[in-house]
Amino acid sequence: MCDKHNQNNCFEHIPSGLPPITVNCIVNGEKVHAVVDPTMTLLNFLRLELKLFGTKEGCGEGECGACTIIMNREPVNSCLILAVEAEGANILTVEGLANDNEISILQQEFIKKDALQCGFCTPGMLMSARALLDRQPDPSIEEVQEALAGNFCRCTGYIPIIDAVLSAAKREREELK
Ligand code: FES
Ligand code: FES
Repeated sequence: MCDKHNQNNCFEHIPSGLPPITVNCIVNGEKVHAVVDPTMTLLNFLRLELKLFGTKEGCGEGECGACTIIMNREPVNSCLILAVEAEGANILTVEGLANDNEISILQQEFIKKDALQCGFCTPGMLMSARALLDRQPDPSIEEVQEALAGNFCRCTGYIPIIDAVLSAAKREREELK
């Protein structure tokens, strides 16, 4: 564990001292208006300002996918994006997957297929998978593997995760019939 992660608040944002900038965006269907430090990442904005702790910080440098969210229909690493770059964006985080307090089919399939153990990678996996299923409702195994290639899991293994995504795709297609 690195020194950063031994501290109480390892994801603290250090203010730059630069003039704050206004950001207007939509997060999980809600309009958000905020004034932020121009150096704050979108990941820190979601977690520290909006208190949406579902999105995780792993590496903080675009390697692990734990911080994946959907921005303007594309899966992105929120640790690599500044909050100010979200101006006008439509953002979906893992908190936005459930409907009326019922978890989504995709989340249900992750549970059914035992596609998580510690769960740290799960929000990022879910968002990469959601973005895939939104553009390709009937993906092949290879397409699922490719969509999840930027998301690392260190405890479950990838087979149940891929199974869960394929199974969710099937159920979602059946629901649309
Ligand atoms: S925390 Fe963003 S990719 Fe690892
Ligand atoms: S479930 Fe633990 S890292 Fe994926």
